[in-house]
Amino acid sequence: MPVSKGKGSDKGGRGGHSLQPPRGTRDFYPDDMRRRNWLFAQFRKTAASFGFEEVDAPMVEHLELFKRKAGEEIVDQLYHFELHDRELALRAEMTPSIARMVIARQGAMRFPIRWFTVTQNWRYERMTRGRKREHYQWNMDIWGESGVEAEAELLSAMFTMLDGLGLARGKVGIRLNSRALLEESLREGVLSGRPEVFEPLCVVIDKIDKIGAEAVTEQLCDAQGGVGLSAEEAARVIEILGARSLDEAARFAATDSPAIAELRRLYTLLEAYGIADHVPFDASVVRGLAYYTGVVFEAFDAGGTLRAIAGGGRYDRLAETLGGKPVPAVGFGFGDVVIGELLEDEGLWPDLKPDVQDIVYAFGPEEKPAAITVARRLRRAGRRVELCLGKSKLKRVLGDADKAGAERVYLIGGDELARGVVKVRDLARKEEIEEAIQGSGDPI
Ligand code: HAM
Repeated sequence: MPVSKGKGSDKGGRGGHSLQPPRGTRDFYPDDMRRRNWLFAQFRKTAASFGFEEVDAPMVEHLELFKRKAGEEIVDQLYHFELHDRELALRAEMTPSIARMVIARQGAMRFPIRWFTVTQNWRYERMTRGRKREHYQWNMDIWGESGVEAEAELLSAMFTMLDGLGLARGKVGIRLNSRALLEESLREGVLSGRPEVFEPLCVVIDKIDKIGAEAVTEQLCDAQGGVGLSAEEAARVIEILGARSLDEAARFAATDSPAIAELRRLYTLLEAYGIADHVPFDASVVRGLAYYTGVVFEAFDAGGTLRAIAGGGRYDRLAETLGGKPVPAVGFGFGDVVIGELLEDEGLWPDLKPDVQDIVYAFGPEEKPAAITVARRLRRAGRRVELCLGKSKLKRVLGDADKAGAERVYLIGGDELARGVVKVRDLARKEEIEEAIQGSGDPI
């Protein structure tokens, strides 16, 4: 079956309408939907096993909720529009909506809160492999816990998810850093007298993997760019980003650095979860969203060929920024696109069949009412039943039943009808028995 992946032109087509979905968006045909539902079931199962509760919010929010000034790509990529004098936007990520929900009931909440979401997000991205203009994202967030126990629990949930998908340990690593550490390392130098450049600075250095150190240096030094460092200061920043162990990073931080102590404590907890070896420290991970304040992390395939699978971190000041009382928060977003590519590459998508158990077939129009009776009886008993409509050929029905992985086919011809029975073919056992059309206790 041809499955639309949203490739190609979305212009033209019959009557001026395109038959393609808009570029970067996807149709989900039954095959795709089965995979999506299976993946989301893994998201939900993992979150539930960590005691998280699911929440949701509107896909359309006030534009204001998403607008920030640090130069983040996500703000430029908003799908926004005006309607009846209101400025609205499709959500690009779930975090601001979750923050809004927490703030709205802040006084009445019992912290810590453990919430998860599975939502579709919209970003007008430049399209590359692994990046679309809509994607689904699984989020897990903890609000009201300032200790790194929260980070450790979330990182463990990410690995539980990856394990559940059948990915061998080592196929995915989560690179981790701390913005608090970076801020500490720059406080006396680059940031002294201008703490406000820290957010835009993080947004710029997040691009280092994509555009390289030279281009990042150029942007850091650009007087119009919102950061405006000297060449020497930019070089210092780049040097700090090179650290690949806590000991190395500690050289740039103050003695007794609280951020280093916090990271060491986090790694002790990660040892207890059995995942420390798969969470390398990497000072170049800062994340491209302005609101992060502490530990930040990003999940990547070990082969290094795909975009980030998931990302998250601590954002202790977002509630205040949006007008609430301060409350610490940490969480992650885990997309459906890149993990789908990895499962494909690794051959790990399960063979998902349509979910029909029984197929009921009448040979002719006279037997149709009896077929309906059988289908109703089976459905009442909780079976998933497909009733053959119209004049389908038996050979084709049996072939389709086999392909769909159905368990039984119910056949009613003139002879069966005359005797008040239906033939039941068990496809796995290759046996045939007869059953009464109407069960003895069935309502008519
Ligand atoms: P993010 O890094 O922007 O973080 O997105 C998280 C994940 O969503 C990415 O690692 C990727 O898997 C997926 N993703 C993002 N954009 C796209 C896209 N255009 N196409 C396909 N997949 C995409 C956030 O959104 C934060 N709000 C996560 C978070 C929650 N931080 C704290 N709590």
